[in-house]
Amino acid sequence: MRVLSGIQPSGALHIGNYFAMMGPMIRYQEEHDLFCFIVNYHALTTVTDPVKLKQETMGAVLDFLALGLDPDRSTFYVQGDVPEVCELTWVLNNHTPVGLLERAHSYKDKIAKGFSPHNGLFTYPVLMAADILLYQAGAVPVGKDQKQHLEITRDIAIKFNYAYGDTFVVPEPWIDENTAVIPGLDGQKMSKSYGNTLEIFGDEKTLKKKIMSIVTDSTPVEAPKDPDKCNVYKLISLFLSPAERQELAERYRAGGLGYGQVKKDLHARMWEYFAPYRAKRAELAADLGEVRRIMRKGAEKARNVAAVTLKDVREKVGLNY
Ligand code: ADP
Ligand code: TRP
Repeated sequence: MRVLSGIQPSGALHIGNYFAMMGPMIRYQEEHDLFCFIVNYHALTTVTDPVKLKQETMGAVLDFLALGLDPDRSTFYVQGDVPEVCELTWVLNNHTPVGLLERAHSYKDKIAKGFSPHNGLFTYPVLMAADILLYQAGAVPVGKDQKQHLEITRDIAIKFNYAYGDTFVVPEPWIDENTAVIPGLDGQKMSKSYGNTLEIFGDEKTLKKKIMSIVTDSTPVEAPKDPDKCNVYKLISLFLSPAERQELAERYRAGGLGYGQVKKDLHARMWEYFAPYRAKRAELAADLGEVRRIMRKGAEKARNVAAVTLKDVREKVGLNY
């Protein structure tokens, strides 16, 4: 099956991205035809500094390659290297009811947070639908926050197929309930846009400082604690085996365990977990010419697939004359 997902280079990638999307994607390449990409067109909706966009895009590429994405086995590319997606977006715009976009939570949230709503933000889900439909993906692994975007994609695909005959595969979202929402330092969803992240490849001192700042309640050390209500427990659990998780939960309930200790353990675990990938990332970063060559090849692979869908779409809607 073709499995596809993308990630925004709007800030350094974090463990919410890793456990909900990047890790599963890297595992899926063992048994699926994987398409994975960095969505720099999407990032234009919020990032206005070109230097930052370039840096974050290359950063995300390095992160994926270091974490084990295999560019020979999978199709790994930067969205903006495949401009065909913009052409499909334009066609799909004409099959997207405005009401569908007006109901998008991510759009409403951004407005509530004070972003001035330009058209890029409004049509963000149409570009995302084009990302998915262009490659005829069967499944899209994402975190829970992307569920509605996937529903919009499905709606658009079904409408188009109804109007012009079978054209697009209607994709299924793959959302793992265990990692659907990973909390950030403040207990809200961890997100680049909330400044509450633990970065996968952050430096050790900053990471430690951030971990020590995770919000906890004021239960004293001696008192029994409820692990399920604790952000530190939820975060360290990501790095523990089921048996270790169980044992730690029992120590919480028994009392005598302070949050400070669990925070130190979380730091040690996380630092150790990503150590081999850190070494690999440094190696890749030392040869950016080679990384750019890998990405050019990825874009070429993606464009070959995109061309087939676009040819069909152009014919069906009457753009070829
Ligand atoms: P961010 O919110 O940090 O900008 P993105 O929107 O780029 O992250 O998300 C990239 C992928 O990671 C998506 O599949 C998204 O659902 C997932 N994701 C991001 N943050 C979390 C989180 N805190 N918990 C679960 N999944 C997440
Ligand atoms: N909107 C997604 C996010 O913020 C990123 C994205 C863009 C995406 N295009 C995609 C995800 C296509 C999956 C498939 O996380």
